[in-house]
Amino acid sequence: MARSWLFVPGDAERKLAKGLAGEADVLILDLEDSVAPANLPAARALVAAILREHAGPRLWVRINALASPHALADLVAVVPAAPAGILLPKADGGADVLRLGHYLSALEAAAGLPEGGIRIAVVATETPAALFALGSYAPPHDRLAALTWGAEDLATALGASANREADGRYAAPYQLARSLCLAGAAAAGVAPIDTVFTDFRDAAGLSREAAAARRAGFAGKLAIHPDQVGPINAAFTPDAAEIAHAERIVAAFAANPGLGTVGIDGRMIDMPHLKQARRLLAMAGRG
Ligand code: COA
Ligand code: MG
Repeated sequence: MARSWLFVPGDAERKLAKGLAGEADVLILDLEDSVAPANLPAARALVAAILREHAGPRLWVRINALASPHALADLVAVVPAAPAGILLPKADGGADVLRLGHYLSALEAAAGLPEGGIRIAVVATETPAALFALGSYAPPHDRLAALTWGAEDLATALGASANREADGRYAAPYQLARSLCLAGAAAAGVAPIDTVFTDFRDAAGLSREAAAARRAGFAGKLAIHPDQVGPINAAFTPDAAEIAHAERIVAAFAANPGLGTVGIDGRMIDMPHLKQARRLLAMAGRG
């Protein structure tokens, strides 16, 4: 699963070139908030040209919200160039995925593309109503690959002037949004992706937040600056000690097939730990 998802403004040629040359697992070519409305037609054309030139599983597009007047024109412009996936902002729930899925099916057919090839990821906490609908992504749409969350638009929608407390921790509504995103993604069986860390000069803060997200169960994290890609990839890549520990757990159960629980280094290890160890080895490509 993709660890780092780097936003690149869809009208910024220099950043697009830099993104393509970098190490982000996914580039999200953005047609929404980072593009001024007047630049949208040019951005659509540039994004479509880049998709055609660099086709592959790395290139996703964030379109405008379904409730905006731009979403359909965004899709008409980019679907024929076959992006790997569409990131849908400001979604209100699973019904929006179904609707986007229908649009994609029609446009894939019009473009002669195989139906269902283009995946969907959703920014699932950007509207107040969305917070009440995180359970609606399960069972998952066939195209749904990931849920992520956003604290910026949600803060604006809630009338807040800040989404963090003075000590830097997310305020309660945004911690709730993050937890609901995680649970909604797990319930649907799709990847939970943590939101952006906006202070892009603070590498230590980013690493701390990414490590906490990984401990909580997130599979990756959004990025807004190329300098964030390395720390995110590192945080979501199991290190040698984690791999060795997981291999010991798997080996201990393999050696004692009749046992439901074993002791390792003075700690009880049972089925949830075995599942965790197997997931970590799969993440490391050793499972
Ligand atoms: N993708 C690719 N390249 C990027 C980039 C991005 N998201 N952000 C910056 N760069 C490039 C710059 O073009 C610059 O390249 P150069 O040295 O070849 O000129 C280099 O990285 C260093 O950039 P820097 O000067 O540190 O940042 P900045 O002040 O130019 O830009 C932002 C800061 C926040 C405007 C910029 O990072 C950005 O546009 N981020 C994405 C915003 C976005 O998409 N938001 C929507 C989702 S929340
Ligand atoms: Mg936004």
